[in-house]
Amino acid sequence: MAHRVCPWWMGPLLLNPLRRWTIKPEKLLGNYVREGMNVLEPGPGMGFLTLPLARLVGPQGKVIAVDIQPKMLEKLRQRVAAAGFATRVETRVATPDSLQIFDLVGAIDFALAFAMVHETPSAERFFHEVAAALRPGATLLFVEPSGHVSTESFAAELAAAQAAGLTVDAEPKIARNYAALLRKAATA
Ligand SMILES: C[S@@+](CC[C@H](N)C(=O)[O-])C[C@H]1O[C@@H](n2cnc3c(N)ncnc32)[C@H](O)[C@@H]1O
Repeated sequence: MAHRVCPWWMGPLLLNPLRRWTIKPEKLLGNYVREGMNVLEPGPGMGFLTLPLARLVGPQGKVIAVDIQPKMLEKLRQRVAAAGFATRVETRVATPDSLQIFDLVGAIDFALAFAMVHETPSAERFFHEVAAALRPGATLLFVEPSGHVSTESFAAELAAAQAAGLTVDAEPKIARNYAALLRKAATA
């Protein structure tokens, strides 16, 4: 499995409006996100999905966006501020080995890992950290691009998620991607 990280200078490509047509972020995320939620978004890049998340959580909610590349987060903050959502979005710099979210144990209502798990050095460690941050019964939408990630690699990542205590609740259809909605047990 390759762990090459998408360089920050490719970040603007991820903001390509054509992606909106295939992914339809508001419709997709609107299935899972409610006003007032605490949302964790590891690997947000320049915030293609962070803005829709911030819109959906509303003024009482929070999106915690955690990336290893400060330059991705710098642009994300600019876009969030321009949209008027600065108070709803917190950014954090992770290390490749850890999201540095030890303070969030049991505090997250929904997490989104979109096109980023294949870039982490250990899917096992990643899912353990995210599972710990989810409150009992909360969900993680896990999505990988089918153009970059093989079916076998996605299956191996899914197995790592299950080993971390997450179960597959649904398999949403997202064009050009594999996707699984993972749930932490309600009585963890
Ligand atoms: C391909 S981009 C996807 C960005 C965004 N999720 C999207 O779909 O537009 C992957 C992002 O994950 C970040 N990333 C890679 N490894 C990471 C790690 N170990 N922890 C947190 N973020 C990571 C990269 O810096 C990059 O911003």
